[in-house]
Amino acid sequence: MITMKRNARITLLLLLIAGLWLALKPTLGNRRFTFLPFRLSEYIDFMDFWLNLGSFALLGLTVWLAFGALEKAFSRMWMMTGFITLLNITLELVQSSIPGREMDFADVWAGLLGCVLGIFGGIVLQLLSIRKKTGRTSPQVLFLDQTGRLGGAELMLLDIAAARAADSEALLFQDGEFRTALENIGVKTTVLALGEDASTVDKQAGLKRVLRSIPGILQLMLQVVQAARSFDVVYANTAKALIIGGPAARLAGRPLIFHLHDIIADGHFSMLNQQALILCANHCAQSVIANSEATKDAFIACGGRAELCVVVPNGFRIPTERSSTEETKSLRTSLGIPSAAWTVLMAGRLAHWKGQHVLLEALKAVPNAHAVLLGDALFTDEDRKYAQQLHTQAEELSGRVHFAGFQSKTMPYFDMADVVVHASVYPEPFGRVIVEGMLACKPVIASRAGGAAEIISHEQTGLLVNPGRPTELADALLRLQHDSEFASIIAHQALQTARATYALSAVQEKIEAVIHQIASPQEPEVLSSIIPPKKSPPCAA
Ligand code: UDP
Ligand code: GLC
Repeated sequence: MITMKRNARITLLLLLIAGLWLALKPTLGNRRFTFLPFRLSEYIDFMDFWLNLGSFALLGLTVWLAFGALEKAFSRMWMMTGFITLLNITLELVQSSIPGREMDFADVWAGLLGCVLGIFGGIVLQLLSIRKKTGRTSPQVLFLDQTGRLGGAELMLLDIAAARAADSEALLFQDGEFRTALENIGVKTTVLALGEDASTVDKQAGLKRVLRSIPGILQLMLQVVQAARSFDVVYANTAKALIIGGPAARLAGRPLIFHLHDIIADGHFSMLNQQALILCANHCAQSVIANSEATKDAFIACGGRAELCVVVPNGFRIPTERSSTEETKSLRTSLGIPSAAWTVLMAGRLAHWKGQHVLLEALKAVPNAHAVLLGDALFTDEDRKYAQQLHTQAEELSGRVHFAGFQSKTMPYFDMADVVVHASVYPEPFGRVIVEGMLACKPVIASRAGGAAEIISHEQTGLLVNPGRPTELADALLRLQHDSEFASIIAHQALQTARATYALSAVQEKIEAVIHQIASPQEPEVLSSIIPPKKSPPCAA
């Protein structure tokens, strides 16, 4: 496979040779061009012509290869031909000012011809390299993700990567259990750590922090460019992965998919971050996979290109077996929950916008209920501070709140609960925990906003309450506690809906279709580089 890494080295070497030749050229004697040399001096002229042609061919070829992608072939070709010919004429003019030397037009023609030949040589080499690259039936995908922790976006990526482990690699900007999980499913994973300045830039970062992060980001970007050249598609799974991977994919000449797991809006991102994300997505991505209609709508409202978007929800393995009564009993005991206590599960990372504090507040009005908070503060210092506040808040509830920490096996927790609560105070982009509650056949109460409001039909497959309203949440909890028949009906309806809507295999197929569509226009891409398309191609529907 002709990799661009190798091309870059060849480029340098050939440029050196061509430069050497140009530097040595004026030392040759007075030349006259002849195709059929008879005398020794004519042999020198003859060689000069062909070497000149050759050196310009090399120049054309190497400059072309250095450009990388096959875009805008014609304009670049004419630009380079003109530039190199101009250089040649200038050299000839300089030489003709040396006493005893004349302007040699044969050299200029040789240069022009060489340049055109070189450029076509470059095109052929790139075509060969592309054909090699697309030789595999399945596109080679490089997944990019900023974190080493296991959030919902990473769990979704694990499921996507699992279906194409042999044809994918992952590049993370932080080490952690996500790397281990990817390696366990057979996905080769590299960690390229983001410098401290860049890694502390969070979703709310302002200008100062963003500026400080630039050197680290540029360094990482160059490493990603190198890596991306060995793949057919770059797949950015998080915001920082897009900011770094977007320009890197462009520089490497590779198409980019941005899997949008976030709602790009105030509350979730600072203004500056919103603009940076939209700019990168609009200019670098060939497809944006939004995890819900709400995520897609927010992207478009913020200025994102609608024609890039396709909505694909998260997918879930439908469990064939659930935990046994014994297992749930012993789990309750280990958490310190009385065996008959009515139990509310709230699963998910501890972060203010996830609204665990809303549940704890609501619990005051539901005297007999116990709550299990499954999850940990995963990402920021703010999250860790919030987790401490939750512990303080829980003290008021005299032993009715149980912190389970982060667990990789969550099913037993869903199985031992009587009800599952989602209480995000900002619109939830998707909300995996809601579907997981439905698949566990538990009644789910969720915040009426974002993806959550798309997953649940109020009073059919769950209950929706307004975000950040503890009293409404308490009322919904009491309703389910007192009307177990209604709770059971909505739980069963939710189970059917979740099974029908969120089966993992269907979701994997949709993602794979997007990958193929983005990767496959390679023969057309070659054509479109020669005959540029009027409009950029729309992504998968
Ligand atoms: N989760 C987990 N262990 C925990 C807590 C949560 O594996 O201790 C999982 C949970 O089952 C869900 C994901 O983390 O699949 C959280 O995804 P969600 O979309 O609900 O929220 P996110 O944290 O991604 O915003
Ligand atoms: C993000 C979102 C969450 C979503 C998950 C998977 O972490 O916050 O709502 O479910 O990605 O798409």
